[in-house]
Order: sequence, then structure tokens, then C-alpha cells
Amino acid sequence: MRLKTLQLVNFRNYDNLHINFNEKVNLLVGKNGQGKTNIVESIYMLSFGKSFRTSKDREIIKFEKENLYVGGSFSKYNSDYLIEIAIGKNKKGVKVNKVHIQKMYELLGNLNVVIFSPEDLKLVKEGPKERRAFIDKEISQIIPKYYNYLTNYNKVLFQRNKLLKGHIVDKNLLDVYDESLARYGSYIYILRRDFIKKIANISMTMHKNLTNEIEDLKINYKNQINISEEDTIETVYNKFIEKLVSSREHDIDTRTTRYGIHKDDLNIFINDLDVRLYGSQGQQRTASISLKLSEIELIKNEVGEYPVLILDDVFSELDETRQKLLIDNLSLVQMFITTAEVSHKKIFNKSNTTIFNINQGNVVSIENGGN
Ligand SMILES: Nc1ncnc2c1ncn2[C@@H]1O[C@H](COP(=O)(O)OP(=O)(O)OP(=O)(O)O)[C@@H](O)[C@H]1O
Ligand SMILES: [Mg+2]
Repeated sequence: MRLKTLQLVNFRNYDNLHINFNEKVNLLVGKNGQGKTNIVESIYMLSFGKSFRTSKDREIIKFEKENLYVGGSFSKYNSDYLIEIAIGKNKKGVKVNKVHIQKMYELLGNLNVVIFSPEDLKLVKEGPKERRAFIDKEISQIIPKYYNYLTNYNKVLFQRNKLLKGHIVDKNLLDVYDESLARYGSYIYILRRDFIKKIANISMTMHKNLTNEIEDLKINYKNQINISEEDTIETVYNKFIEKLVSSREHDIDTRTTRYGIHKDDLNIFINDLDVRLYGSQGQQRTASISLKLSEIELIKNEVGEYPVLILDDVFSELDETRQKLLIDNLSLVQMFITTAEVSHKKIFNKSNTTIFNINQGNVVSIENGGN
């Protein structure tokens, strides 16, 4: 996948920006607060329909303006695509190739984006919620209907918990919610199981590369229903219903739902030790890098093309060996790298690189690497 052009109107600190990107490496350089992340935020929006920094669309509209526009053209499977997003005070429209889409999941899976920012270095160290978010984001862009299951699951979970918090709990209604929860949940369980198996395989190799073959990274799916390789939608549905029924009294007492995909996590081991408990900071960071970078290969395997890669402020967080490894290993991937370090220009000064110098919401100059 190659993002070719980007147009921003009233997006954060940009008035009207039109850029043509390099099909390999794009380095966005500028001092703090000039608008580097704003650009990659808009690229991310073309993929996911929303920002990774805020859930409030209106924050993205330029101060004192009413509407914003983001448009990006890209190529995939040798065809050209155009994604456009317009956001006003109370309205939002998304078009794919000039056709309005009705549901957000119809946007997912068009432009595949992997974003890597400093928070991702804490992926292994952080709580289960962050790891679930990671899993959800990745499966959604490979299998967009997953996002739909998840939205529906969360709606039912919310209603179920609301019912549990009421004065009198209507058991018949609880039956209905359990049935829905298990129906959506069983799809999610299966898709997570399959995704985690694949990412575990890829990250094992990735981690060996990053650690000179010293560390053995193992990842598996932590879930409450003991899902197995053999399980089908049906058997998972039954297992999940069983759990919900067994926990009904407990759920009524505690007014919350004890079992389900909202409790899932990843078990992560390095040389057979739980890296969350026993890993050093460095090991946790490296394991996070392995996991994130594995997404790239996984998307390539599943979708047939590499995603575009965004490295937001993360380059300076890597040591020299890893910087080099990254650049050398990802020569087939289009990259967008933001940095406040002018010295990074030297590292990237190659013919496959375009450097965009950014200052106060403007691309003030463009340098072609290798000159
Ligand atoms: N809605 C908005 N309207 C106008 N300007 C905005 C809006 N939201 C954020 N900004 C401005 O955008 C700038 C931040 O941009 P951005 O986060 O892209 O910086 P950056 O270049 O990535 O900086 P750093 O190197 O610190 O990460 C700030 O100056 C902020 O005031
Ligand atoms: Mg930034």
C-alpha cells in the first residue's frame, strides 16, 4: 500500500495543506508543537475514521473553524483509492472513492496503517486493557466485521451491567442479554484465538532477530473459557453461556459481568518467564517492539500487501542497532517517521527518502534525500 497524496483543510494547526508523499520513506522533521503528529494523526484517520489521540472529533477541527476535511489517495492491489473525511460541528461524513459509507466498519480495511508511538513501547508492561485495544485494532483492520461484533458486544455488555445495577433484576431479560453476549462473544473469541496464534508465530521470529537469537518469545491467549484449537463458534458459544449461567448469582451480587471477552489478555513469556512479572524494562520494551512490528508481516500475509507504517516520535527511543534493523528490514514498507531531531536527517539521507520540514502548521521546505 502506498499513500500518494494528503490534503488537509482546517485540520488541527493546518489551514490548507497538500502533500505528495515518497513511496518509501517520509521523514517529518520539526521542533516540538509544530504539527508533525498532526499529519500522521490525519493519516491514521484515513484508516480508522477517528483519531488515536482523542475521541472528540471537534478537537481536531482547527480552532475557530467550523469544518475540517482530510483527503488521501493511495494505491492498493494496483488500483487507486481515495478516502475523504469531512467533520462539522455535529456531523461527519466519510467517502470511499466518492461513495458515502454508512457504517464506520465499512471504512476499516481499506488503508492499512500500523502506528508505533512511545506508548506502544509500554504495550507489554501496561494492563490488559491496552493489550486488548491492540488486539482489537489489528483484527479490525484485517477483518472489518470484527469491529461490528465488538461494538455490538460492548452495547449488550453495557445493557447487561445496567440491568445488574438496577433494583430488581429481570431474569428473563438477563437470559436475552446472555444469549446476545454469547453470540457476539463467540465470534470474537474465535477471531482473537486465530489472530493471537498468527501474531505469536511471527513475533517469535521477530524477537529472535531483535535479540541476536538469545531470547525466546512466547505469546498465548489468556481467556476464561479455555478456548482450544478445536473449538468452533458453536462450542465456544456453549462454553461461554455455561460460564455466564454459572456466574449469574455472583454477577447479580457484584452487579457486574465476570466472564467474557472484556476480560481477555495476552500471556507473554521470554525464555519461559512471564515478562510482565519478571522481565526487565528493556525486555518488556523489546517484546513490545516485536509485537508491534509483527503486525506489519501479519497484515502482509492476510491482506496481501504491506500496510503503511507510522513511527511517531519513536525513532529516537530506539538504540542504534534497532534503528538500523528497522530501516534495513522494512525496505518494502512505506514509512512516515516524525522526529524533532534534526540529526536524524543524516541517517535517512538516501535516495528513497523525502524530508518534510515542518514549522507552525506549514511544510516550509522539502528535501529529497541522497542529494
Ligand atoms: N484544533 C486545533 N486547532 C489549531 N491548532 C491545534 C489544534 N489542536 C492542536 N493544535 C496545535 O497543534 C500543535 C501540536 O501539533 P503536533 O502534536 O503535531 O506537534 P508535533 O510537531 O508532533 O510536536 P512534538 O515534537 O512535541 O510531538 C500545537 O501547537 C497545538 O496548539
Ligand atoms: Mg508529536
